[in-house]
Amino acid sequence: MHRDPIEASKAANLKIAMVSSNVRTLEHLRELLTGWDGSLHLTAVPGGVEQIGRIAEQEHPDLVLVEGVRHDGDELAALERVTPRFPSMAVIMLSPNQSAEFLRHGMRIGLREILPLPIAREALLEALGRIQQRLAVAAAPKRKGKILSFIGCKGGSGATFLAANLAYALAELEKKQVALIDLNCQFGDASWYLSERVPTATLADIARQIHRLDGAFLASSMIRVLPNLGVLPAPEEPDQALHIRPEQVEALLWVAASHYDVVIVDCARSLDEITVRAMDQAETIFPVLQLTLPFVRDAKRLIRALAALGYGRDKVKLLVNRHEKGAAITVEEVAQALRYEVYRTIPNSFNAVAASVNQGVPIVKLAGRDPVAKALREMAAALAATNQGGGWLRSLLPAR
Ligand SMILES: Nc1ncnc2c1ncn2[C@@H]1O[C@H](COP(=O)(O)OP(=O)(O)OP(=O)(O)O)[C@@H](O)[C@H]1O
Ligand SMILES: [Mg+2]
Repeated sequence: MHRDPIEASKAANLKIAMVSSNVRTLEHLRELLTGWDGSLHLTAVPGGVEQIGRIAEQEHPDLVLVEGVRHDGDELAALERVTPRFPSMAVIMLSPNQSAEFLRHGMRIGLREILPLPIAREALLEALGRIQQRLAVAAAPKRKGKILSFIGCKGGSGATFLAANLAYALAELEKKQVALIDLNCQFGDASWYLSERVPTATLADIARQIHRLDGAFLASSMIRVLPNLGVLPAPEEPDQALHIRPEQVEALLWVAASHYDVVIVDCARSLDEITVRAMDQAETIFPVLQLTLPFVRDAKRLIRALAALGYGRDKVKLLVNRHEKGAAITVEEVAQALRYEVYRTIPNSFNAVAASVNQGVPIVKLAGRDPVAKALREMAAALAATNQGGGWLRSLLPAR
């Protein structure tokens, strides 16, 4: 039987931690909350915002209701050190300071609301209703999409070119809803492979506002290359990336995968925490290499590192790019040296790829007959075929 998610979530226990240095406030909150018609699990914690990190880690509440003490920017700054680490936990502050500046600052750091003191019963219960709704929506739709991560074994392998062009092929030819996300925090360039448009927002902007992110917000922040293909570019300046945190990227990918059929991620080669979180969530990781010794050496290291991170052979699929018949090293030799199967090869085609890259026009659009376009079409078709139900894994069997 189908149940309304909001009704269903009312039956579930809403876990609330009430935090205040004033015992009377804690008692008063408990009284007011007895008016709620759902089931609540309440804990009262004496103290202020400094308690929230510990409570979040130990008790995992859905909501923290905290009474401010100083009601100023410093108090919000203290909260900001905690809230981004727990994006699924809502925090409502109680404060007599209702100035526009204080409220704006509160939203920026991830507070759901700042309710005035003394507490009005109606306002509190309405706020609780909004939290409940958010939880219900977050819990209701399971992620529909797959995350595919691309990573170069070495600089210049073609990882970004392949990620961007595969995203385009899946959207244009396979009619998938596709998001391309550039996680190269330093000098990311994925958006330029598909569009010359200057972005309105980047990964850094989304990370900063992660607590507001939903499907509509994400869609409106991306460059719209096609009606069903959005691109979220990397920050334009490396220093803007300094504040991007792994948990924000994790939340972004979660939202993206809830709203798109395929989320293609262009990963940095640094294997830092952001990259690893993105890879954790990926269905498949595609390391990209070419058929020369330096690539093979670095591929070996990368494969070893990915195995150490716990990603199995069903998840890590090697792509050989710029493949040429008669090359000094063959695909078979590479597979043997790496003791790893090659999933697919993409041919070398200097002129067509250079034209596509220079013009910012996807290769399947610019040079549909080129062998690279053909290989990308085939890969997109294979991935899409299995995405429609049945074994997604089947598409990942090596193509001969
Ligand atoms: N199949 C191909 N045939 C010919 N040239 C290619 C092919 N794939 C990529 N290239 C060329 O290689 C260049 C580098 O590609 P790309 O930027 O995608 O590499 P990358 O692995 O993302 O590099 P980085 O490490 O800088 O992020 C591109 O500008 C493109 O011209
Ligand atoms: Mg790149």
